[in-house]
Amino acid sequence: MKTPLSAAVFATFLTAGAALAQAPVQFPPGEGRDIVAVACSQCHAPNIITFMRKNAAGWRTHVYDMFIRGAQVTDTEMDVVVDYLATNFGPGVNVPKFEAVALPDGAGKDLLQQRCGTACHDLTRVTVARHGRNDWDGVVAQMMEFGAPVTLDEGKTIAAYLKDRFGEK
Ligand code: HEC
Repeated sequence: MKTPLSAAVFATFLTAGAALAQAPVQFPPGEGRDIVAVACSQCHAPNIITFMRKNAAGWRTHVYDMFIRGAQVTDTEMDVVVDYLATNFGPGVNVPKFEAVALPDGAGKDLLQQRCGTACHDLTRVTVARHGRNDWDGVVAQMMEFGAPVTLDEGKTIAAYLKDRFGEK
């Protein structure tokens, strides 16, 4: 009985050691880091989070969505988690270098590249998205609510371009 037990203990030790060794690199220090490192690593790799930028409203919506899917975040932890994410992964904060994405020509292309492809995520999110023509207004409005650095007029130009080039019937 002795050998299987110590093998199991050793395996647990290895797993815990690997997790500990990785956590500080993936998530910057701060209140809420430990909750995020545990609760948000159960279903997907941490880089899903570290490659995304949103303001507090955006992260709150997102964390709630994850909560519905089963993320282990309690009511009282919610604010700390949202604060942590918005502080460390807010629009324009330490943004990773995104790959350039080729876009079709059209009025609004440059704006889309400058405003939507630098602060929060790369533009493959646009090119792989499947939205109907009429859904793009709502997508752009939501991105603005989540902190996209876009004026109302710019938002309209960008939405028109997206409808035209990426709107499905
Ligand atoms: C129960 C499983 C689960 C847990 C726990 C979980 N997620 Fe997710 N997460 C998902 C799934 C599934 C997707 C893909 C959803 C989609 O594409 O609509 C996802 C996608 C994401 C994305 C990318 C969304 C996008 O639009 O591409 C982010 C950011 C994210 N999760 C953040 C978090 C955070 C922050 C936490 C911790 C509060 C968390 N996740 C915990 C299941 C989970």
